[in-house]
Amino acid sequence: MFKRPIRKSAKRDVIRPGHRFEGEVRDLNSDGQAVVAHPDGRVFFVPGAWRGEKGLFEVTQLKGRMGFARLVSLTEESPRRRSPPCPHNGFATDNCGGCPWMFMEYAEQLRSKELQLQKMLQALNPELTPGTIWASPEEFAYRNRAQLKTDGRRLGYVASNSREIAEISDCLVLNTKNQQTLKDLKARLPNPEWKPSRAKHWSTLDLDDDIIAADVTANQRRPFRQGNSAQNQRMRDWLASKVADLETPASVVELFAGSGNFTDILVASGCKNICAVDSFRPAIERLQSRSLPGVTGLCSDLGRPGSAADLETALSAATLLLLDPPREGLKNIDDYLKLAPRLQTIIYISCDLATLARDLNVAIKHRFQLREVQPLDLFPQTPHIEALTVLTR
Ligand SMILES: C[S@@+](CC[C@H](N)C(=O)[O-])C[C@H]1O[C@@H](n2cnc3c(N)ncnc32)[C@H](O)[C@@H]1O
Repeated sequence: MFKRPIRKSAKRDVIRPGHRFEGEVRDLNSDGQAVVAHPDGRVFFVPGAWRGEKGLFEVTQLKGRMGFARLVSLTEESPRRRSPPCPHNGFATDNCGGCPWMFMEYAEQLRSKELQLQKMLQALNPELTPGTIWASPEEFAYRNRAQLKTDGRRLGYVASNSREIAEISDCLVLNTKNQQTLKDLKARLPNPEWKPSRAKHWSTLDLDDDIIAADVTANQRRPFRQGNSAQNQRMRDWLASKVADLETPASVVELFAGSGNFTDILVASGCKNICAVDSFRPAIERLQSRSLPGVTGLCSDLGRPGSAADLETALSAATLLLLDPPREGLKNIDDYLKLAPRLQTIIYISCDLATLARDLNVAIKHRFQLREVQPLDLFPQTPHIEALTVLTR
């Protein structure tokens, strides 16, 4: 008699938020979150877990073949895990999201940053060994600036797991002056002047160790400043040593110059004809007010299509290109390099490895070689990596 074959169910279990599974952390992604594979092959990103750790995870959000999960419990934990010294730290919706790596020892955070950089270099230039990362002299109390959020009743940072304000009473990564300013600002709550407009979720308060609480005005953006003064000095010293290595004094185009943090190093190192560009007018005005010899400050949006052509004269004379972009990098770097035939050296200071790799690939197509990569830790307790690179033709 004919028997119908038993049909195997082709359908996999449907995974929904709330579904729990056991897994192991294989790696960390570029945002510093654990990468955990579900037994069905789907990949989940998990904050607060580390390479090699095993545990129980719960799905919180799905996005195609990927998703997000939270750590429920650990069955194997890293020997480098520690109890975060800040009471606001954690991964619940009301915890502060400012220091997502605080649960790991500082030496392990540094090791992980080096690994991320090595991975990026594998594709670009496998023969080049990056320098050992320069640790921050202070693991805590290093931040010379920060941005607080307030709704006029509460004051804090953006929460770990939501777009809410996580209220804080103290912040261990702020330097002593800013910790005092934070206390003084908290004493001004409730404050109707800080209430956000209807379109906004919160108002911002920019802390800076150049100012006191009385000088802080809601929603007043301050010109960019590197957030860790000791490490900024290290970057400036590094830049001076690289410029000293150049054979002749350079004609320079400096992109993303801010208010001239690196421009004065170029001047002191003997560079001539420095064209320094930034899109933030108050920063360029501050740079111009310093009257640095040989420096022309220009305000321009460097990401705008066609923006390279505005700098044609400066680019055609430049022998050195210095750039220090925000995380987006310079996606139209090709336009700039095409207009700079005399360029011998590029010094690219980056805060984002993915856009750095993208932009360096373009430079390599323009016959530049990557000669040096020096990582530096500007922001302990976070996955942020600063990379100082030199390319020559
Ligand atoms: C990482 S900061 C570097 C600033 C400066 N090199 C320093 O060390 O203080 C990046 C700078 O890029 C500027 N910026 C951001 N987007 C820009 C754009 N599209 N065009 C030009 N400048 C931009 C910001 O105003 C900021 O000053």
